[in-house]
Order: sequence, then C-alpha cells, then structure tokens
Amino acid sequence: MADLEGAGESRTYHAGVPQRDVGFFLKGMGHYDWGLQNRMARIFDPRSGRTVMLAFDHGYFQGPTSGLERIDLSIVPLVPLADTLMLTRGVLRSLIPPAGAPAVVLRASGGPSVLRELSNEEIALDVEEAIRLNAAALAVQVFIGGEHETKSVHNLTRLVDQGNRYGIPVLAVTAVGREMVRDAKYFRLATRICAELGAHYVKTYYVAEGFDTVTSCCPVPIVIAGGKKLPELDALKMAAAAVAQGASGVDMGRNIFQSEAPEAMLRAVRAVVHEGVSAEVAHALHLRAKQGGEGA
Ligand code: R5P
Repeated sequence: MADLEGAGESRTYHAGVPQRDVGFFLKGMGHYDWGLQNRMARIFDPRSGRTVMLAFDHGYFQGPTSGLERIDLSIVPLVPLADTLMLTRGVLRSLIPPAGAPAVVLRASGGPSVLRELSNEEIALDVEEAIRLNAAALAVQVFIGGEHETKSVHNLTRLVDQGNRYGIPVLAVTAVGREMVRDAKYFRLATRICAELGAHYVKTYYVAEGFDTVTSCCPVPIVIAGGKKLPELDALKMAAAAVAQGASGVDMGRNIFQSEAPEAMLRAVRAVVHEGVSAEVAHALHLRAKQGGEGA
C-alpha cells in the first residue's frame, strides 16, 4: 500500500480551468459507451480518422482462395502493417501470433459455401467467444434484395444487440447478389438500412458515380471492400477516390494479397488512405519498393 505522506496536501485543483470534453472522432459514434469507442479507435487510427483493414476471411465460404492457400506464408508477414485484420476465428487461432497482433474483426456470419445460395447465412460466432479472442468488432454479411434478405438482417440486429451489451461494434458487410446492379442507388439503400438497424460501421463497394451520396447519407463510417484484383494503379485510384468522397478507409483483400508485391501494395494503400498521397505517387512508391524488394 502507498504511504499517505503528502496525500492530503494537494493544491493542484486548477479551479479556473474548465474540464475539456473531448468529442469522439468518428461519425455517428459520439453517443456510444467508452468500451465501444475504444474498440472503434483500435480499428480506425485517431490521427487520420481512417483504417486500412487487411481482409482475408474469404475462406469462410470459398475455401483456399488464390493468395490465401498458405496464410502463414502470405499473410502473416503483412500483419504488422495493417491497422486491423478481418478474418475468421479458425485462422486467428491457428495461424496468427497473438503477440503484437493489431485489432481483429471477426467474421461472425456464415453457413452456405460458394456451391449454394450465399444469402442463407446464420450467425456463426458467439459473443463470449469474441470477447475471449479480444475482438475489436464482429462482421456480418447483409444481403439487401437477396433471397434471404430478412434472415441476414436479423443476423445483423441480433449481433448488434449482443455487441451493444458488451461494447463490441458490428461491421455490416453489404453483399451484392450476382444479378443485382452495383450502383449508388443500391448502395445508398443497403448501407442506410444497415446503419438504421444499428450497425456501427458499414462495408460497401466503391462506385464511380455518386459514391459521395452513399457516404453522405449513411450516418456511420463506411469502408470499401477492394473487390476483384485490379491493376495496382487502378486499385490505388479507387481507394483515393473513395476516401476523397467520404469513406473512412478500406477493407481490402485480393488487391493486396494477390498483388505481385503484397507488402509494397499494402504500404502504398496506407499512404493513400492515411497520408492523402495521390494514387500516382503511391504507385510510384509501390514500383520502387517492388523493384528494391519488399520493405525497400
Ligand atoms: C468476402 O469474402 C469478405 O467480406 C472480404 O473481407 C471482402 O470482400 C474484402 O475483400 P476483397 O477486397 O478481396 O473484396
């Protein structure tokens, strides 16, 4: 026990200095409790207000995706460069070293494989398990307009109820059926429904026309998925355009781990998202790092 000498003599009351109330830096998150805000601040860097999430949860419905056949070899070296990992609990436990790992967002829905109707998902993770794994957030797929739309929305709302109980944010991932049009009108609908029903942040796709209207009418942060592999410069242009139009970062997978130089690509994405470096300059950095070897 500390001794009491001097304990009653304090004069540093600063009576004339009003306590400064610090607002929270993320859109729509000001009224949440400390634990939930703290977890969001582990995902989003408070200095830039943005995140670079490295997504490699694809195996939860499609097995060993190209670039993810050996996560220990392809992804583990990238872990220190990401703000956040988006992955399944199986891969987390099996392959990700706990020491030094960044925030983790756990895939919390699943069920059908790529061979079946994808919208027919169930909740696939217990909130106690998420707490045990020190998850920063839970991710759930929402299929607006899909065959099992209502079921997927209920998966979201049940996870939001559990997440709010324990201070764990929920990321709603807007999934677009193959037959649906990917335009701003659809993404305004899907992202807004997710936010209205309690998602703490939403993942969607970038669209070339009207993306700023998607971010402006969604009351919580939006991050974009990378989508299918593009030439590196195009992927960087997409990330730059998305953040310029109000996205709070990226949750990018294939455009990083399927790149010929994944570490250089991840560094380039970080420069665009966190430092506001142009896609062209980031691409030049990427090429230099690629030629000089990863980490150059
Ligand atoms: C889909 O399997 C997951 O939600 C991915 O995390 C998401 O699509 C992001 O990965 P990518 O950038 O490869 O689209």
